[in-house]
Amino acid sequence: MTSIDSLLHENRRFPPSPEFAASAVAGPDLYERAEADRLGFWAAQARELLTWETPFSQTLDWSNPPFAKWFADGRLNVAYNCLDRHVEARNGNRVAFHWEGEPGDTRTVTYAELTAEVKRAANVLTSLGIGQGDRVAIYLPMIPEAVVAMLAVARIGAVHSVVFGGFSSESLRARIDDASAKLVITADGGWRKGKVVQLKPAVDAALADGKSTVESVLVVRRAQNAIDWTDGRDQWWNDAMAGAADEHEAQGFEAENPLFILYTSGTTGKPKGILHTSGGYLTQVAFTQKFVFDLHPETDVYWCTADVGWVTGHSYAIYGPMANGATQVLYEGTPDTPHPGRWWELIQKYKVSIFYTAPTAIRSFMKVGREIPQRFDLSSLRVLGSVGEPINPEAWVWYREVIGGGTTPVVDTWWQTETGGIMVSALPGVTTAKPGSAQVPIPGITVDVLGDDGTPVENNQGGLLAVTAPWPSMLRGIWGDPDRFRETYWSKFWDAPGGPFYLAGDGAHKDEDGDLWLLGRIDDVMNVSGHRLSTAEIESALVSHPWVAEAAVVGASDETTGQAVVAFVIVKARQADVATASEASDVLRKHVAEQIGAIARPRTIYIVSELPKTRSGKIMRRLLRDVAEGREVGDTTTLADTSVMQIITDKLR
Ligand code: WTA
Repeated sequence: MTSIDSLLHENRRFPPSPEFAASAVAGPDLYERAEADRLGFWAAQARELLTWETPFSQTLDWSNPPFAKWFADGRLNVAYNCLDRHVEARNGNRVAFHWEGEPGDTRTVTYAELTAEVKRAANVLTSLGIGQGDRVAIYLPMIPEAVVAMLAVARIGAVHSVVFGGFSSESLRARIDDASAKLVITADGGWRKGKVVQLKPAVDAALADGKSTVESVLVVRRAQNAIDWTDGRDQWWNDAMAGAADEHEAQGFEAENPLFILYTSGTTGKPKGILHTSGGYLTQVAFTQKFVFDLHPETDVYWCTADVGWVTGHSYAIYGPMANGATQVLYEGTPDTPHPGRWWELIQKYKVSIFYTAPTAIRSFMKVGREIPQRFDLSSLRVLGSVGEPINPEAWVWYREVIGGGTTPVVDTWWQTETGGIMVSALPGVTTAKPGSAQVPIPGITVDVLGDDGTPVENNQGGLLAVTAPWPSMLRGIWGDPDRFRETYWSKFWDAPGGPFYLAGDGAHKDEDGDLWLLGRIDDVMNVSGHRLSTAEIESALVSHPWVAEAAVVGASDETTGQAVVAFVIVKARQADVATASEASDVLRKHVAEQIGAIARPRTIYIVSELPKTRSGKIMRRLLRDVAEGREVGDTTTLADTSVMQIITDKLR
């Protein structure tokens, strides 16, 4: 985590070079235009960056907060905007993506080829009875078919719910059920760390009881592993595509037609289905893709390392780049397979010029040492981006120097699944960069740091990050749960002066220059390697194991992953006899991975005999965090039994 020490030791500032600024797509005028007429600014972006089947006349309808409508009387087709129009503009031969499988197999797909494939896939979906508004779950590795599937769902006005391939069958099932999906698109398996990761068995398990709303399963042949088959339900993607017509006309849908649902962790055990719609979402992701990354689609090669299972993969590996007609790299596997320089090798091979990744990856490369990237030619890089968690100044500077050759701008982009697109970031060619700070809201976005009463705090005082006006790519709700939507994000600042405002759930402060510093989550949500995990969700996975009586989970700071999952577990008395603490902890770590997914597996599980609780029975996670981070345990006076922490720390030492 960002320590005050490391912040104080980095005072360097990095102004844009005159050469960069001269050809940058962004200029300072963007801020002026947005400030003069915020809604007019967004309307102009929507008209300039997108193609509308029916033009809109209305920009924002905020008459029924917190439910916003953007460009509501306009109609467009999202897939047409990402595909056909580039072909019509004679850019069909431009490469849409260079895909690289982990074992080294490759595919290069042009915009014309991708458009043709998406048309076929749209016909396949229609033939399976999928139409506007139907939900389709996508559970795939990072393969070209994931892109085709998402865009085909969008093309017919249906709604995708992509479930990260690392999630367990339990998690998949919960997401399929919550959205009442009609179809699942999956693969036999994918490649990860040199091994096949099976996917189809998880789908089979998720649908095993026959009570699901899912009618069909399309299976992409990827890893050639043997799988079970349910006749009448399962169909090979490849066969279905071969039999489908290749003509398909994209129809326009209203701007507020739902585009996707993406589940993210909240403070309770149940993930939230964040809902995004079409016109406003595409406007903001297209805008930020172009201006935050200084994208020149004719010449740049852009690579965002996120999996499509996360929002970064949705907005900045699919919709943002493709709406702009960018050429991308897509990679299936892990950064260090089969060798620790795999990513740098890909940058050299495809001459990547814009690179977007997470601080956790940067820190793990720092640990291995600069010798590895220095073996490769990274001179094609000209813009670097960071997302997912605060980037400490040391990692920021290393990124710029070692990966960016000491010359590239680095943009630290703050945003969330809920915000849909980037909200706070420097603009390359415009902003003087300040390592460690996400800097300022992008043009057209208003963000502030507020106190509990909803008024701005003083500079350099910590407060709550809030978005103080509706924005085009804002979430439109939580799927099926309008009350939770209101309660989670809007109730805190409902009556604030000038409100209602959106509560982001992050702590922040503003410095004397007006630059924002993000301080991490203010709720029980952890950030592990840039992935959001809920303490409550992991606790409930732990207590679902028959050995466990009680469990408490905390996020402990970790040098590489930002935070790490640490669990404190009380095992039932009978069990204490049959397993040692280390056996029990191995079994339970595995259990969590099976229940949720490997990303949620605790780094450490402490088997304890008590948990620190207040008199009202609330677990004091602060004290457990002290233990997990190896600190002196803080103030224990509000504990019901003040000796508990002594018992816990004695046992662990
Ligand atoms: C954190 C990922 C600091 C933050 C796009 C936020 C960041 C959560 C940054 C959203 C950043 C993301 N600096 N913190 N540049 N970017 N975060 O929904 O806590 O997976 O609330 O979206 O990640 O995570 P999510």
